[in-house]
Amino acid sequence: MKLYTGGTFDLFHYGHMQFLKNCKRLSRRVIVSLNTDEFIEEYKGKKPFLSFEERKKSILMSGCADEVIENSGGSDSKPAILSVKPDIIAIGDDWCKRDYYKQMDFTQEWLDEREILLIYLPYTRDISTTDIIKRVKNS
Ligand code: CTP
Repeated sequence: MKLYTGGTFDLFHYGHMQFLKNCKRLSRRVIVSLNTDEFIEEYKGKKPFLSFEERKKSILMSGCADEVIENSGGSDSKPAILSVKPDIIAIGDDWCKRDYYKQMDFTQEWLDEREILLIYLPYTRDISTTDIIKRVKNS
């Protein structure tokens, strides 16, 4: 059983850890598809604070994920997903209010054909990278 999750994971914090630990409860193998610095800059209009290698090391050193790969397709997550062939794709439920299918550039039919189950895990309240950046800026 393999679980795939995509994200940026900048300024790695306990919300990220809780999310990955919940992923681990669902699957023996957790693979993080990490957004590249270039894609983040293109998508958010600014570079992440920690580089790809720094973000990758933070995730791996936490012991919360088994492998970190590059989200090579950028806004098209399908190439990275196909390279992993997961049974499950997990994402925080902050995405329930937004169109995760559009974000990942796949459809329910595409997932069904590959027998991939998309699940939403509870987002940890009161902590996010955006919030940490705001706090630092206001300090
Ligand atoms: N996540 C979570 N709880 C948090 C923060 C993140 O469950 N408090 C989950 C997200 O839902 C996602 C993964 O961790 O599945 C990576 O999230 P990411 O967007 O990189 O982290 P955020 O801290 O939410 O960053 P930002 O504020 O830039 O959106």
